[in-house]
Amino acid sequence: MNTQKTVKDYIRTIVDFPHEGILFRDVTTLFADPRGFRMAVDQMLHPYAGQRIDKVVGLEARGFILGGAVAHQLGCGFVPVRKKGKLPGAVISEEYTLEYGEAVVELHDDAITAGETVLLVDDLLATGGTAEAGIKLIERLGGQIIGCAFVIDLPDLGGRERIEALGMDVHALCA
Ligand code: PRP
Ligand code: ADE
Repeated sequence: MNTQKTVKDYIRTIVDFPHEGILFRDVTTLFADPRGFRMAVDQMLHPYAGQRIDKVVGLEARGFILGGAVAHQLGCGFVPVRKKGKLPGAVISEEYTLEYGEAVVELHDDAITAGETVLLVDDLLATGGTAEAGIKLIERLGGQIIGCAFVIDLPDLGGRERIEALGMDVHALCA
């Protein structure tokens, strides 16, 4: 019997958070485990390891934890996409809806230079609303997105199709 744990084994599901009917995939248990966290970071960057990546863009908040580690490992810069009102400099903004609400995300308008290659990183792809907003922000600054990497893809919510329809490469470690 193969007893080797996979990334999925480190993630727990909390029922009815933040609203009734939502099965919340909690990655804090993955991040808290040294083997699980390293496995997730290594697997996320693996397809892109030989490619030129200038910036990793992480989506608030869980994408910061993964994206920082991925950027460190790739030896490139890290850029945050933040919820409205958190970034101190001049920003560009995008509105979006997600599985349980709506929001606005922002990117510093000088965080990416036209032509730079970017890897977008987040923990989870649900409806794809958050990732699409991040993609729009990056592309508005002329960034060239090499791929979008997630730990979890929730296939029933259609995010992968939505992001692939934008011409993106989607890489997810588990469903
Ligand atoms: C979660 C998750 C993704 C997004 C996915 O973030 O970390 O960013 O939802 O949902 P979508 O594909 O339907 O857009 P959340 O907005 O809960 O923010 P947080 O990480 O700051 O808690
Ligand atoms: N973001 C959107 N849907 C989610 C879910 N089911 N679990 C964790 N984060 C989410």
